[in-house]
Amino acid sequence: LKVFSGQSNRALAQEICDNLGITLGNSETQKFNNDNIIVRYQESLREADVFIVQALSTPTSDNLMELLLMIDAAKSASAHRVTAVIPYYSYARSDKKDEPRISISARLVADLIQTAGADRVLTMTLHSPQVHGFFKVPVDHLSSEVVIANHLITHIDNVQDGVVLATDAGDIKRASALARRLNANLAFIDKRRLSDTNVQARGLIGDVKDRKVFVVDDEISTAGSLVEAVHVAKAAGATDVYVAVTHGVYVGPAVERIAALDAVEVCSTNTVEVPEWKLEQGKKLKVLT
Ligand code: R5P
Repeated sequence: LKVFSGQSNRALAQEICDNLGITLGNSETQKFNNDNIIVRYQESLREADVFIVQALSTPTSDNLMELLLMIDAAKSASAHRVTAVIPYYSYARSDKKDEPRISISARLVADLIQTAGADRVLTMTLHSPQVHGFFKVPVDHLSSEVVIANHLITHIDNVQDGVVLATDAGDIKRASALARRLNANLAFIDKRRLSDTNVQARGLIGDVKDRKVFVVDDEISTAGSLVEAVHVAKAAGATDVYVAVTHGVYVGPAVERIAALDAVEVCSTNTVEVPEWKLEQGKKLKVLT
């Protein structure tokens, strides 16, 4: 078994290798002046069971291209099996044709990964779980629920008296599974997306008065959804607000917004590497491993 890493989350790839007691494989990626990318393996892959770790975080197009090249190069080097380990599959948000004349890019990206030669895909908390059906090769779709539940249970007293709050109706199923695990109540926000960076909360369905609230989501991108959810929860009488999501993408105004947020902490798992400066400026940001 050999594990290689793209540029997007080497820390996670290294952690995986440390846990397996193996050395991270040797590969090199270079970008030419014309933006073309070249990937080169510096060890033999012949007949190996190869795992390539690459999150589709920003710069997303470069990271996607690097992943495709790594898969293709591994197949050309006679690897026995290639598994694409994609801890964060950002294009899962584009899972349907909900406007005329757009692409279902979650499906297109799945096609590209398979055409490149992936035999298997391993991913975590897809925005829409159905996206794994866009692949014809086997997909292991992991969930961060246990990691998040353990964090809340071990760091917060009496979680069962709190309320799990989903930032929109689309996330109720996942939030409800977490609420069951915590033995806590459930609420959700009626959310409308106005633009990439702004959303509007039209109301909160459920009761959070005098309760601790655990805001959950699959990802925080610009933190527009989060800001609205926290405001609405506070206005409805929530006491302390904790935030726990799978993918801490933190782009655009996210870090600034989170620094100003009336929440105790904002946690994400390590599917996306959060740079040190974001952790410092975001003040209450935490990464769960
Ligand atoms: C969208 O429906 C997702 O579940 C997240 O709520 C969304 O991706 C978060 O994006 P942002 O942080 O930009 O509001």
